[in-house]
Amino acid sequence: MAKGKKTTAFFCQNCGFESAKWLGQCPGCKSWNSMVEEPLSPKSSAPRAGGADISRQSKPKTLKEIEPESANRISTGIGELDRVLGGGIVRGSLLLVGGDPGIGKSTLLLQVCRHLSAAAHPVLYVSGEESESQLKIRADRLGSFTDSLKILAETDLNRIGEILKSGVFDCVIIDSIQTMYNEEISASPGSISQVRESTGVLLRLAKEYGISIFIVGHVTKDGSVAGPKVLEHMVDTVLYFEGEAKGPYRVLKGVKNRFGSTDEIGVFEMGAEGLKEVKNPSEFMLSGRPEGTSGSVVAVSMEGRRPILVEIQALLTDTAFGLPRRQAMGTDYNRVNLLLAVLEKRVGLRLSNSDAYVNIAGGLKINEPALDLGIVMAAVSSYKNRVIDPHTAVFGEVGLSGEVRSVTGAAQRVGEAARLGFKRIVIPDAHLRDLKSLPGVELIGVRSVADLMELI
Ligand code: TYD
Ligand code: MG
Repeated sequence: MAKGKKTTAFFCQNCGFESAKWLGQCPGCKSWNSMVEEPLSPKSSAPRAGGADISRQSKPKTLKEIEPESANRISTGIGELDRVLGGGIVRGSLLLVGGDPGIGKSTLLLQVCRHLSAAAHPVLYVSGEESESQLKIRADRLGSFTDSLKILAETDLNRIGEILKSGVFDCVIIDSIQTMYNEEISASPGSISQVRESTGVLLRLAKEYGISIFIVGHVTKDGSVAGPKVLEHMVDTVLYFEGEAKGPYRVLKGVKNRFGSTDEIGVFEMGAEGLKEVKNPSEFMLSGRPEGTSGSVVAVSMEGRRPILVEIQALLTDTAFGLPRRQAMGTDYNRVNLLLAVLEKRVGLRLSNSDAYVNIAGGLKINEPALDLGIVMAAVSSYKNRVIDPHTAVFGEVGLSGEVRSVTGAAQRVGEAARLGFKRIVIPDAHLRDLKSLPGVELIGVRSVADLMELI
């Protein structure tokens, strides 16, 4: 056998792990059956993908000479998106918007185009998925657009590159990266090497011509095309669009942001005319809350610097077939199991014969320890079939010994709950000392899960 240089390798379509031989399970991300053989990128192009050629004009500067970064931001016209971006789009940045197919990525970005074009910013929407006429139908639902927006149905990246080099566009949308095709790479569109190389080309264009480029990346579970995870390290900002496809609410989360914090979220509602901002998520999350039913508790969560009140629902019933069923929707399954175990061990509730279902109403996904006390309270309320007074809100972390621990942002949480008319707020006892009392609001400190039991 001739010992030539290897020209192909196996790549995990989920995380990009590279291996010389095929593996059933990816050692990088532990997903099964995700390794696909692909040609290795030609050597000449490999170093280009790493970074932009900004060295040409670089010279040492004092901090005063550097323009403030805020001068370089463009508002998207969508407040919730600006918040997640840290104050608008930074000129010349590369942004990745990931999410399940059908969640609303194209809709969101077309709405961004609408606002930018209304502000006379030249924008280009490149679609590799929908034809021009399909885009027109969608755009008509969203409202009127000015002529600053141009549409291009194209998947050939060389052609797109030529257009971007004209330098007329401030902002460009690439929908989606998995449809883009670079003819120097022999692999098919959607493969790791195509997706990576295309992103490398876009990165260079963004930096060299000062164009802000949004890249849409579908999250796929079956590994048929490369997922957006593969690109996270290459781009400046990574946003994920999440939510229950059937429900109206969508949450935009920042996962990485070179120009701002990553713990802000934006909340949207999908309607007949596209996505609407939800400026006051708490009120939305609590609308339609049943009153006078056991197992329903309002907990105060914190997303970024913004407190959000959510309804936690728990349903505990007798197990029919020996092995109890447990389910958590919108929160961490393991955390729910742990809290049920704490209840069993520390306050002697016999939960091993109960099925338990816990749900965060409204379709938000929240993994925050401050939700613990709310989950425990909802579970006990359902187990004992006692209704919690609807004017009660709660937050606090629960430790393994059943102790209630303090959390960050207690004052903001109490403030938001009070603003929405909650009269009784159950909080970790440690916070009582340093929180100012608010008129008409009773703060109840609890030290342990046992203290909480007395309240229910
Ligand atoms: P889309 O933006 O195409 O999702 P993605 O680009 O992430 O794949 O969203 C498609 C869904 O949104 C589709 O199920 C229809 C729905 N939708 C509305 O409910 N209202 C609207 O105004 C629009 C444009 C879409
Ligand atoms: Mg789309």
